Amino acid sequence: MQNVFAGKKIVIGVTGSIAAFKVAGWVSDLAKEEALVSVVMTPSATKFIAPLTFAALSGNDVSTEMFSAAKEDTMAHISLGREADIVLIAPATANTIAKLANGFADDLLTTTVLATRAGVLVCPAMNSRMYSHPATRQNIVKLKELGYTVIDPACGMMACKEEGDGRLPEWEEVKEYLAKSLSPQDLQGQRILVTAGPTREPLDPARFLSNRSSGKMGYALARSAFRRGGAVTLVSGPSTLSCPAGVNLVKVQTAVEMYDAVLDHARHCSVVIKAAAVADYRPEKMYEHKVKKEHIDTRLILERNPDILLELGKRKKAGQLLVGFAAESKNLRQEGTKKLHNKNLDLIAVNDISVDRTGFEAETNQVLLISASGAESLPYTSKLHTADLIWDRVVSLLPASAEKAEQG
Ligand code: CTP
Repeated sequence: MQNVFAGKKIVIGVTGSIAAFKVAGWVSDLAKEEALVSVVMTPSATKFIAPLTFAALSGNDVSTEMFSAAKEDTMAHISLGREADIVLIAPATANTIAKLANGFADDLLTTTVLATRAGVLVCPAMNSRMYSHPATRQNIVKLKELGYTVIDPACGMMACKEEGDGRLPEWEEVKEYLAKSLSPQDLQGQRILVTAGPTREPLDPARFLSNRSSGKMGYALARSAFRRGGAVTLVSGPSTLSCPAGVNLVKVQTAVEMYDAVLDHARHCSVVIKAAAVADYRPEKMYEHKVKKEHIDTRLILERNPDILLELGKRKKAGQLLVGFAAESKNLRQEGTKKLHNKNLDLIAVNDISVDRTGFEAETNQVLLISASGAESLPYTSKLHTADLIWDRVVSLLPASAEKAEQG
């Protein structure tokens, strides 16, 4: 799936909260992602932001009225909901939440929600006292019982100068939940462990040995797995990337810390993907205080770090899938096949690091996937798309898929 948003009909319901202006940026981003966005505003939302803003950003008319004289609009309250792939209500006020929880249909937005059979995502945004009121709490429980996804508001300073829960969640988070609603849930029920980034092996408090890994491939794998329904833990070495929404991040620094964290989590996981670039060696000694340049021994003595993947291969449980990565600059197939066997892997993704556009720090990648059944070269594409293609392959190797294939 190259871009989960492209061509998708997304109805965005905007209600009367000061946070409505933030959703203009969301509409703009979705339009850039080639989604077909239709905005429905409640009458009070139009007091905070002009419909024209959303019309210009989405490239579509904005609907505000339940009953319009325009011929093409007479059935808007049915057609918008019927044709939507997903309905997002953001910001959702306490009033709209109460109406939705009770099945009211007294404006175009609530009617559209009743008429849809697509997924509904609700992003509450209100003063924290209103949010914590038992009536609102109960209404949110009812929305969840109706099968709507409610994204918890963020905590912080609000327009009313009070601090607490009630801020509209960040777009990065909402976008992931939207992507999840639009993705096949073929990793549902899978507990997944992904590792990413480099490790840092300290010499003293100021200096360390590391490598060029940015973590982009591992973070893309974690993001894609969450979108597809997996329960994802990401064990990451130092990286400037922010953790994708819905993913449980465990931060580590050294290879030994990564070893401990990975072995601890892997016991509970059905799929482990090791995209991290683990330092194979660490300085033999870590100095407690910064070593002055006159005192530095120019010959660095190193000692081996544990090979985490090798250990995982030895401890692999029945039904657990183990996926490795290999960074190679020549003989990709040969080196990958060797590691597949030596480390007892089910799949290995081999990266050509001699090429700038597919190596460390690049946004794009091209990998050779090797399993017991042979090798497959994936296309040159974004790291997120590469991640999706790797998950496609993993899904085909899951025990449930093997059973299905046998039955078929
Ligand atoms: N790996 C690991 N622990 C290590 C080194 C590597 O778990 N100490 C994992 C990486 O996360 C990756 C795979 O092993 O999934 C391959 O890493 P790579 O560095 O390409 O291979 P090595 O086995 O270290 O072999 P070499 O450096 O000799 O190519």
